[in-house]
Amino acid sequence: MKPYSIIPALALVFASSLIASPANENPGENPGGETTVHATGKNAFSFPAANLTDEERTRFAIGNSFFKRNWVEAPASTKKRDGLGPHFITRSCGGCHVLDGRGAPPDVARGEQPVGLLMRLSVPGVGEHGGVVPEPTYGDQFNNFAVQQVRPEGKVLIRYQEVKGKFADGTPYTLLKPDYGFRDLGYGPMAKDVMVSPRIAPQLIGVGLLEAIPGTEILANAEKQKAMKGPIKGMPNQVWDAYSRKMMPGRYGWKANVATIAHQTAGAFNGDIGITSSLFSNEGCTPAQKDCQAAPKGNEGKAPEIDDKTFGDVVFYQATLAPPARRNIKDRQVLHGRKLFEQAQCAVCHRPHYVTGASPNPELSSKALNNQHIFPYTDLLLHDMGDGLADGRPDFAANGRQWKTPALWGIGLIKDVNGHNRLMHDGRARGVMEAILWHGGESEESRKAVLNMNRRDREALVKFVESL
Ligand code: HEC
Ligand code: HEC
Repeated sequence: MKPYSIIPALALVFASSLIASPANENPGENPGGETTVHATGKNAFSFPAANLTDEERTRFAIGNSFFKRNWVEAPASTKKRDGLGPHFITRSCGGCHVLDGRGAPPDVARGEQPVGLLMRLSVPGVGEHGGVVPEPTYGDQFNNFAVQQVRPEGKVLIRYQEVKGKFADGTPYTLLKPDYGFRDLGYGPMAKDVMVSPRIAPQLIGVGLLEAIPGTEILANAEKQKAMKGPIKGMPNQVWDAYSRKMMPGRYGWKANVATIAHQTAGAFNGDIGITSSLFSNEGCTPAQKDCQAAPKGNEGKAPEIDDKTFGDVVFYQATLAPPARRNIKDRQVLHGRKLFEQAQCAVCHRPHYVTGASPNPELSSKALNNQHIFPYTDLLLHDMGDGLADGRPDFAANGRQWKTPALWGIGLIKDVNGHNRLMHDGRARGVMEAILWHGGESEESRKAVLNMNRRDREALVKFVESL
């Protein structure tokens, strides 16, 4: 053998290892692969995937208009958008997902009622398809507004208590611990054993890409964590999907309590705005709510208040909302923060990279989302997050201490879009560091690692998360 022949062989091995791994797994600038848009500022969450066709852009625009448009009380002259309520929280999807972004808790000092923060209700037991048993008088969600002639369900009462702590270096911090209750109840007392789960409206970028992550990847995340040493043991939720009419792994909602964008959309139209569709054709009035049952229906009660085509366009719109490009990716602090994110085990749950497959409902999505290298930073699994965050309310397979790892993409732009930085399932955290300080249970070690960091490292970690 000639001595020099070994060189090209080695070079080949070296080159192929470069191609096979890190290149595509490096969280570069484009978290949504080819769908990514370069956008900052107020509209950063509102752009269509960069690689849509012209025809798809038109469908996106139609869906957008029905997402943002206010629904009106029936009977109205505009049959296409009457049917609001009888009970509701707000008049449009965009009323909570403001600019397709993140809701905030109300200013309690000014006596505001929550809009982008809703209260899920249930009583113990297992309901239809393994889901929750709704509270008998108020249903599965509290509606603080109603049309004329119908009583609103009441008001939400929120109190915050300050909880103080210190980093290992002595720097103090303060967290806000919320407490939830109700007053002015429209239909008498709630069941004594009612369970309440507060949920904030998340930003909607990339939800179609999350839907296109192969289910086998979610299961693989759980298997991988099971085989690891330590307390991190995520599990998938298993939920009933009204669009596909079968049980599926959950991906949406703070407890992965919904499997598809279609189900989530029909549920939101029905539960949050009071609009019926072919998936959920009954208004959510309970037997005790006679005024609600008697109220006029949209479309003169002859058909679902939203037709199937318009419904499909609203789903398509969300499915194709693009994740915005990352910022400051070459900043030294950001690069340092990325290392700390790995070291503190954040990346075990907030898994950076996937390659998408195809949407389970291609008629409501776009091929533009298929086979993309994406960086959402989630395992889509449920984790026990400790006492501090527990709501005590199960949701399908999720127990009262579990929450789904939320995707972190776009998190640094919430401030630009929505003018606030309230995070976690009920918006209690004021910024990324407070969000980290609420981590407990399976993520207790991560929190401890951050408590022990010096100021420079803490700032770098936050800066990295804000670059996503
Ligand atoms: C009253 C406020 C409110 C309104 C109105 C509202 N949403 Fe939401 N939305 C939420 C909350 C809260 C969640 C989280 C729900 C949960 O955890 O169960 C959510 C979750 C979602 C998600 C899942 C996102 C994710 O990543 O988990 C989608 C998609 C969505 N909403 C679409 C819509 C659409 C479409 C409409 C209009 C038909 C709408 N929403 C109206 C509050 C609202
Ligand atoms: C055991 C899994 C797990 C680990 C480890 C973990 N997280 Fe989380 N993270 C979650 C879950 C679950 C939530 C949502 C909890 C809630 O809303 O109550 C969350 C929420 C967050 C949020 C708020 C997101 C939002 O949309 O409001 C941020 C920011 C965050 N994590 C960053 C980190 C960082 C940084 C680390 C490492 C120091 C880390 N996480 C470690 C599971 C984890």
